[in-house]
Amino acid sequence: MLVLGIETSCDECSAAVVEDGRRILSNVVATQIYYHKPYDGVVPEIASRKHTEWIVPVVRSALSKAGVQAADLGGVAVTGRPGLLGSLLVGLSYAKGLSYSLGIPLISVDHIKAHLYAPLLEYELDYPYLGLLVSGGHTVICVVEGFDTVEVLGTTIDDACGEAFDKVAKHYQLGYPGGVVIDRLSKEGNPRAYRFPQPSLHKGDHRFDVSYSGLKTAVINQIDQFWDGASEKSPENIAASFQKAAIDMITSRLRKALSDTGIKALAAGGGVAANSYLRSELFRIGEEMGIEPAIPSMPLCTDNGAMIAGLGYHYLQRGDRDGLDAVASARVPVFNRKYL
Ligand code: KG4
Ligand code: ZN
Repeated sequence: MLVLGIETSCDECSAAVVEDGRRILSNVVATQIYYHKPYDGVVPEIASRKHTEWIVPVVRSALSKAGVQAADLGGVAVTGRPGLLGSLLVGLSYAKGLSYSLGIPLISVDHIKAHLYAPLLEYELDYPYLGLLVSGGHTVICVVEGFDTVEVLGTTIDDACGEAFDKVAKHYQLGYPGGVVIDRLSKEGNPRAYRFPQPSLHKGDHRFDVSYSGLKTAVINQIDQFWDGASEKSPENIAASFQKAAIDMITSRLRKALSDTGIKALAAGGGVAANSYLRSELFRIGEEMGIEPAIPSMPLCTDNGAMIAGLGYHYLQRGDRDGLDAVASARVPVFNRKYL
């Protein structure tokens, strides 16, 4: 079955055609970075306006790159939650119109589950696997038991990992998008120039949680306290030291989660999974554990329609359908539930 996936939850306008939940025939991503750069962050009103302008050409391009007609589609999947409400509504409304006019089923999917599904588009992975989602809005360490069954082990108690990258970059005016710039600067910096503290949350049920507010305060307001006293106080050294602290916080939890659960498979997703230091650390964990980590290629780490189409296929196969009354939702109550 060919499924069209539509993703407009934030600042990427994307559409993709995926066959049987696995084979990507096209994955078109139109990024709005240029329009948000002057503000050093995503401006919701600009994002939804651009989606409105771009959604038709992006979908047309996805169909033509895949070499298929709209009539060949067996269903349309769209991100329904979480995200910027105005942006979500553009994709959802468009998907409803398409589903109605073509007479094909519609399914609205969860963006977090879609990021956790993305590794399956490139790797052979059996459930359960340990999943890491690190993006601008979410930080989740979980056991992915099935495409729709995700047990949360740990999450952030304050800022998301990508959000911390973006805020540090914004404070030091390093450039936009923050995560990408910090990753690039870090390659020229000394990660030990500043020794930032790690939060101590290693207790009971919360031992897999992370927290970025302390690290953010340390980097932004108290940076001299953590200086090694010798290295240059350069943007490269700040970036490398912050990146090391932010990523080490994640990988220490992952090691613990792998050993506590005994799970022998690890997969990552979300924009921060594009980070080169995180990727090399995940491969190191893989070597330690004798497993191959499933880390998607860059276009499948950041927001994309292929992960929506891939995940949507499984709901459609199960017989799930959404109607024209489907609603978009800005949030999901991740923090209060054991299961997503
Ligand atoms: O998954 P995504 O595209 O959108 C959300 O669902 O949030 O993730 C965007 C986030 C931003 O915070 C961005 O700064 C971060 O991913 N990011 C990175 C890198 N590339 C993108 N963070 C660290 N290193 C990178 N190379
Ligand atoms: Zn995302």
